[in-house]
Amino acid sequence: MSDIKKIRDNFIIKIKENLDINQINQIKSELFGKNGLVSSQFKKLSSIAENERKQFASDLNNVKNELQNLIVKKIQDIEIKEINKKLEKEKIDVTLPERNFYRGKIHPVSQSIDEISSIFSEIGFSVEEGPDVENEYNNFTALNTPDNHPARDMHDTFYLDDNKELLLRTHTSPVQIRTMIKDKPPFKIIAPGRTYRSDSDQTHAPMFHQVEGLHIDENINMGHLKGCLNYFIKEFFEIDKIKMRFRPSHFPFTEPSAEVDIGYEIKDGKIVIGEGDKWLEILGCGMVHPNVLKNVKIDTKKYQGYAFGIGIDRLAMLKYGINDLRAFFECDYRWLNHFGFDPLDVPSNYRGLSR
Ligand code: DAH
Repeated sequence: MSDIKKIRDNFIIKIKENLDINQINQIKSELFGKNGLVSSQFKKLSSIAENERKQFASDLNNVKNELQNLIVKKIQDIEIKEINKKLEKEKIDVTLPERNFYRGKIHPVSQSIDEISSIFSEIGFSVEEGPDVENEYNNFTALNTPDNHPARDMHDTFYLDDNKELLLRTHTSPVQIRTMIKDKPPFKIIAPGRTYRSDSDQTHAPMFHQVEGLHIDENINMGHLKGCLNYFIKEFFEIDKIKMRFRPSHFPFTEPSAEVDIGYEIKDGKIVIGEGDKWLEILGCGMVHPNVLKNVKIDTKKYQGYAFGIGIDRLAMLKYGINDLRAFFECDYRWLNHFGFDPLDVPSNYRGLSR
């Protein structure tokens, strides 16, 4: 058997073996390297008798091509195998929980909103929402606050266009309008959400949170308002005794209007709600002004009701002992970790709101 045939037969078997990429490269250089077996055969050409040379060259070329093709194919196979192996190893089961699972915390403001919603839902209120970008009509005019009304200036409004038609809502009260336009009375809703005013210091943020309340039905009076708010404050602060006072006030969209203060005292440097002789203002409220009801085409002879607007951030600060409003919006993980809540502990009136 010629050398060429021996090389061929020998290497065809070798290439078929289970090889890795280094081993096949090794074979490649054994055959085709500078002093490789096939290369050396080519060097022999000149010394071969002329009558055999043509045949020798042709056989050699055939073997060279055959082996080269086999090697190229083998390298491809090995690479595909490697990729498949890697894919197999790196397969991700997206249904499994993340291994370095970090459970985030619920922000105290979100927690308070959940608590507030839970408390009011207990006495029949449902939750409504409105957009942060509001029109001037819903935010002011429909709420009996016409152009040039001094209350407009007091709101430090962020307007979004030169005509002052679009704005960032300055309170959640426009959700009253949206709700009453959309449906028919009776209404018993709360509307928590973000509100905006151009104002910023230790106790004011340009973005803050309010919850609006609206209860319209036949024969609703100020007594209902008082009972509702009294229940809410007690539930929210999770105490049985609460000192609360209604102070006459003015809002364009209610008549009569009141502001509500709760009693507190400072004990060992901490605020204690429900005792003492200091007063803290926490919300505005009143009987919905007939003009507001007329604006949304509600028969004021048949229907009346109360509304209220509560500042959520301040309530959350009081309940959870947070003394700088700005900390709410700094997104400091250490702070959140300390003041945040377990996401699986959904507030409920039965299991407890915050513990
Ligand atoms: N919208 C008022 C504010 O932001 C708060 C308010 C007061 C809302 C009285 C009411 C209300 O619904 O009846 O200052």
